[in-house]
Amino acid sequence: MRVDLLAGTAYNPAVMPAPVPTILVFDSGLGGLTVFSEVLKARPDARFVYAADDAAFPYGRLSEEALVARVLTVMERLAVLHRPDLAVIACNTASTLVLPHLRRRFPFPFVGTVPAIKPAAEITRSGVVTVLATPGTVARDYTRGLVAAYASGCRVNLVGSTKLAAYAEAELEGRPVPDADLAAELAPCFVEEGGRRTDVVALACTHYPLLLPRLKALAPWPVAWIDPAPAIARRVVHLLGGPVPGHEEGDEESLAVFTAGRGLNEALRTALQIKGLPAVTIEDWPLK
Ligand code: DGL
Repeated sequence: MRVDLLAGTAYNPAVMPAPVPTILVFDSGLGGLTVFSEVLKARPDARFVYAADDAAFPYGRLSEEALVARVLTVMERLAVLHRPDLAVIACNTASTLVLPHLRRRFPFPFVGTVPAIKPAAEITRSGVVTVLATPGTVARDYTRGLVAAYASGCRVNLVGSTKLAAYAEAELEGRPVPDADLAAELAPCFVEEGGRRTDVVALACTHYPLLLPRLKALAPWPVAWIDPAPAIARRVVHLLGGPVPGHEEGDEESLAVFTAGRGLNEALRTALQIKGLPAVTIEDWPLK
């Protein structure tokens, strides 16, 4: 099935200023904010809808079938309500599975977020790289395919953390987790064998860059950390073009949408406002 959206008002360039696009940034929770910030820098004129499907968080624990069904259901509702010109799936766990389904069903373009295995293989000197993701992303055929295609000459250490995404959410909600808990999740990322050790960690869950300063401080030795957000912002500009002249940042009110809003406390509302999302709505879309 394909969702047909109602056409907007016809654009007449002789009498109307050039329209700005609506960009939907979608994640299971707050991780996509790391991508949103980069896309906002690249298209400060755009209208943004940041959608957090927190009713189904964390996606990393859902079966593949359940995840495909959930993302399609939520996207259908968001598409009808917000009519995006482009959607960024700011979630590796969803992108590595659901993108072909989304592209078949909706008429607007999708930009996905997938593990930066190719860039990691290109910059490693030791040949030992870690991909830090969710258990879902680690288990995907798509991820294994990236390793085979781009990093067959490396020792690729796939680490699926069950807790880090929730720790990142807690941090933004003003409840930082103790160092020892973070260090325990980080430990499997650092491998030393035969005189070689990990020198690159690809952050393959969009939640993890929220914790980057703390991860760097807790790392047993320095490594290059890869955050894919700037590359995703470049892809958005490639598809939509650069900012429309005559529109300033903040002309368009951007909105954060939560499907449950469980963690929405004062600390989080303030963090959202600082990031450029002053308005928040809660839809009650429970995971069935
Ligand atoms: N932010 C999501 C990702 O990039 C995942 C977190 C979750 O498990 O929901 O994979």
